[in-house]
Amino acid sequence: MSCLKLSSGRLNLQHYLWRDVLGYNIHPAIPIKNDSDYKIADVGTGTGIWLTDIHRQLPSARLDGFDVSTEQYPPKEWLPGNISLKSLDIHKPIPDELRGVYDLVHVRLLVAVLRDGDLIPVVENLFAMLSLYCVLCCLLTWVCEDTLTSVEPGGYLQWSEINPSTFGIQSIHPDTRTDELRYLVESFRLRAPLRWVSELPSFFAGQGLKDVLHRSYATPPELLMQMTQIHFMLGEEMSFVIMDNSDPAKGGPAYRRRIEEAAIEAKEGAAITFACEVTIGMRQVT
Ligand SMILES: C[S@@+](CC[C@H](N)C(=O)[O-])C[C@H]1O[C@@H](n2cnc3c(N)ncnc32)[C@H](O)[C@@H]1O
Repeated sequence: MSCLKLSSGRLNLQHYLWRDVLGYNIHPAIPIKNDSDYKIADVGTGTGIWLTDIHRQLPSARLDGFDVSTEQYPPKEWLPGNISLKSLDIHKPIPDELRGVYDLVHVRLLVAVLRDGDLIPVVENLFAMLSLYCVLCCLLTWVCEDTLTSVEPGGYLQWSEINPSTFGIQSIHPDTRTDELRYLVESFRLRAPLRWVSELPSFFAGQGLKDVLHRSYATPPELLMQMTQIHFMLGEEMSFVIMDNSDPAKGGPAYRRRIEEAAIEAKEGAAITFACEVTIGMRQVT
């Protein structure tokens, strides 16, 4: 069974929670320009919500969204003129017309999509999309070292992820019930037994990205309930898509009953916690 309407609603809500937790859409260390020459790609864009929000900040920039599935895209008639949403499989070689094009490539929440062994080819594909403008800038810097006072940077990669190794439970009181929330967290962790999220910063540097920055953001108390509710929605989707729903005693309905119990625990003052992690780096000339 497909759960697209549940999934799209969750992704859209989740976007605004992430923005509130991080305090930005684009990391403040990344130089941006509100200009049609400034090009941003959002890879694995889902509903395109990140780009829709970026449009308010950069209404003149070129904003291109890519996803292996176009099913969650809104009608193009309702998108701002500077946003286009297209099809792209990040596991396949990047088409020539997208190579070296983008000043910023943004990726968020591929944690359930990529396995440990996928990271190198996927990151190489993302790098290939980054602007080569820095080649020219570095040559100019080298030739005119003393005369050139400001150089424009090369393309940036910004990758935002949940780190599954940071999943935990927080409660307002040691006696608050948390068993069902713990069960949910364990089920998410089992589905994402990944190392690659923790390795992302060293991986960026090892692959030759410059000026790599990494930061981990905890959910503030006022958003703990909302972030926990996102995980209830995710659990419901999983229960419909990957579990047996053929009768009420089977895995899907049983899992949803446990989500109902977890929601009571959340109401009583317990929450799922995790780190939202952001890693950025600039393409280096080799
Ligand atoms: C959890 S969603 C995140 C969506 C969006 N980045 C956000 O933060 O709202 C993961 C997205 O990755 C997309 N995806 C999965 N495999 C992909 C692939 N091979 N190439 C491109 N996108 C892919 C899915 O279709 C889905 O839209």
